[in-house]
Amino acid sequence: MPVLSCEGLHLSYGSTLALRGVDLRVGAGESVAVVGSSGSGKSTLLHCFAGLRVPDRGEVRVGGVLLSSLSDRRRSRLRLERMGVVFQFGELLPELTMEENVGLPLWVTGLSRSAVAERVGEVLDDFGIVHLADSYPGEVSGGEKQRAAVARALVHDPPIVLADEPTGSLDSVNADRVMSALVDRSCRYGQALVLVTHEMRFAELCDRRLTILDGEIALPRLRP
Ligand SMILES: Nc1ncnc2c1ncn2[C@@H]1O[C@H](COP(=O)(O)OP(=O)(O)OP(=O)(O)O)[C@@H](O)[C@H]1O
Ligand SMILES: [Mg+2]
Repeated sequence: MPVLSCEGLHLSYGSTLALRGVDLRVGAGESVAVVGSSGSGKSTLLHCFAGLRVPDRGEVRVGGVLLSSLSDRRRSRLRLERMGVVFQFGELLPELTMEENVGLPLWVTGLSRSAVAERVGEVLDDFGIVHLADSYPGEVSGGEKQRAAVARALVHDPPIVLADEPTGSLDSVNADRVMSALVDRSCRYGQALVLVTHEMRFAELCDRRLTILDGEIALPRLRP
């Protein structure tokens, strides 16, 4: 059974058809790169997977459970516990420090304060931002915020990671660091990864690559 799947997803914003019948199945330990031009529907697809947007038609299942069968509260809980989501524009909470932002998914796990601090310290260190633990998002660079957003998505070792352009604001050294953390974890710990990227070299690290074209998954071109 796939860890994450969708079938027949349609979604429009007014007269704009953002998704026009997307089917996708992602297994445990599988990494899937989603590429496609700007406005083709990549972020919308990720938001549907995360249960943050309700499709007009079609369904999303997480671990076999239909998202549409859950209340808003249960859907949020499932997202917090089972998913790590890196949004295209970071979206850290400005009133929390970097350390508090990264630790958010651990607050509901029942871990002790010291265990949370230890785990958060490890991931901040992994991404080279441990010295910014007490800073607020408004006081750090875009790339540092982006690394914190990736750290937050991985801190609780979720079975599903959805990452929307997680290297868009990073220099090549940090982009490589973030990508190897994402892809290594998928291989090593069986996390399902859906990665939206414009960079072919990162898409090629994934097990599969899909192109979205005007809200549909483009069929692979046949070789002549
Ligand atoms: N909140 C919104 N309201 C209205 N239209 C929207 C909204 N969000 C996205 N769209 C439209 O839906 C389509 C798909 O947008 P989406 O953000 O999914 O594209 P994308 O592939 O992620 O693009 P990019 O590579 O630029 O991030 C676009 O035509 C976009 O203008
Ligand atoms: Mg996008």
